[in-house]
Amino acid sequence: MSLSEKLAPLSDGSPVVLPSLLLCDFGNLEREVERLEAAGVRALHLDVMDGRFVPNLTYGMPIVAAFRRLSSLPLDVHLMIEKPEEYIQQFVEAGADLITIHVEACADAVGALKQIQSAGVAAGIAVNPETPLADIEPCLEHADLALVMSVRPGFGGQKFNPVAIEKLQRLQEITQGDVILEVDGGINEETIADCAAAGARWFVVGSGIFKRDDYNAAVQELTSLAAC
Ligand code: DX5
Ligand code: ZN
Repeated sequence: MSLSEKLAPLSDGSPVVLPSLLLCDFGNLEREVERLEAAGVRALHLDVMDGRFVPNLTYGMPIVAAFRRLSSLPLDVHLMIEKPEEYIQQFVEAGADLITIHVEACADAVGALKQIQSAGVAAGIAVNPETPLADIEPCLEHADLALVMSVRPGFGGQKFNPVAIEKLQRLQEITQGDVILEVDGGINEETIADCAAAGARWFVVGSGIFKRDDYNAAVQELTSLAAC
């Protein structure tokens, strides 16, 4: 299946809840993927952290490749690493379908987005809560997705920062549906509907799924709250 065939159903304006696998059971990834697929998730969000751009370390290409072997769902790879442009080809080879870089992490974000797209993968640009939206505006015409962080990246389980709402509203005005708007951090039953009303269509959820025993109930509840 081509990239556009894979991503088209996820960019039709309907809400997409993406599990952030940061908090999953890494001792049994196969079981976690089975449970998420049974819950009806339509893509997986993979958080790559380098201990430099953010004060935490997670995983890199081998785990992305492991998810690629375990699932045919689109892999949304969120790179929280310095100099992401140096690793793009390796994440493409590991099986990423969409690669998001942080505007704060590279000197030439537009160049990095072009590099991602020329590798045949969709490109996202992420912005931290304290970074002005103006910093990503020049990137938008080269991006398939804009990721608004609603926490300072690095850890799951943090409190939602409402600055994300203003950024989403402004992005919706600027992009007029041409760019997928994704929000990440502190998304749960209390925060998801406001993000949807502000224009977000992709919702990254960590603790809101993995701290629940019933992934299916969590995904269905969040999806219906986002659809209102
Ligand atoms: C934050 C990560 C998120 C995080 C979300 O640094 O990019 O994807 O895991 O987790 P929750 O939903 O618990 O805030
Ligand atoms: Zn993330």
